[in-house]
Amino acid sequence: MQIIDGKKVSANVKESVRLETDRLIAEHGVTPGLAVVIVGDDPASRVYVNNKKKACGLVGFKSEEYALPAETTQEELLALVDTLNKKPDINGILVQLPLPEHLDDKAVIERISPEKDVDAFHAVNVGKIMLGEYDFLPCTPAGVMEMLRQYEIPVEGRECVVIGRSNIVGKPMGMLLLHENGTVTICHSRTKNLKEVCQRADILVAAVGKAKFVTADMVKDGAVVIDVGMNRDENGKLCGDVDFENVKDKCSYITPVPGGVGPMTIATLMKNTLKACRLQNGIDD
Ligand code: GUN
Repeated sequence: MQIIDGKKVSANVKESVRLETDRLIAEHGVTPGLAVVIVGDDPASRVYVNNKKKACGLVGFKSEEYALPAETTQEELLALVDTLNKKPDINGILVQLPLPEHLDDKAVIERISPEKDVDAFHAVNVGKIMLGEYDFLPCTPAGVMEMLRQYEIPVEGRECVVIGRSNIVGKPMGMLLLHENGTVTICHSRTKNLKEVCQRADILVAAVGKAKFVTADMVKDGAVVIDVGMNRDENGKLCGDVDFENVKDKCSYITPVPGGVGPMTIATLMKNTLKACRLQNGIDD
């Protein structure tokens, strides 16, 4: 069994983004800029936003944080998005989810200019992903694909089972595996015989949001297990959707939590922001 080191893969991606950024600055005089918007004081969101800002510093991007109070109105938030859409030194806009209950996240996402939608959440970018025409990669699923690539784990022709059908992870994860010629099954809360379906998987991706949901009896010997979960266990300790201690000995490869998929989401975000900067400045070398 080999543990897939998300920190290492993410560092490789960020290093290549940093080199490209240095070149953009030196040869074209442009610096990629990311605006990160956070509303309210959700502690997990605060950690994610800090990590995103830190990554920007590391690769040489400019980053701006807009921390708004929990009682911000929909109109105020939309007005900020409008301002950022027009700001020439900002190439990417990221509104950290979840938003407080009273705000309409769908309307906010649709207000972001698709050219600056570095999360690839806007309907235009989701549509392009369906068609296999990527401007922006969906951050977490693309991070998973990068891990598989760097560890030379083949996808073509293999049984890929994704547990979870969210718009952010499950659905686009299925599409990316399909584009690499995997045979894809997406499972969800109404799936019958979940255990048997999961047992078929050569590559099993868990994106359910339930601590230790994937148990050893659901995993085929030699499977690749990718854990997208980020939960707290009964002792308040960070854990994934996979019962790591019991599953790990059955796998050929497994991602840990933390230090697995999490860092990869941010690495893709950096790639997308760089791409946004290139597209907006007409740079294609
Ligand atoms: N909340 C959890 N994951 C994400 C993400 O990838 N992007 C944003 N904007 N919010 C999130």
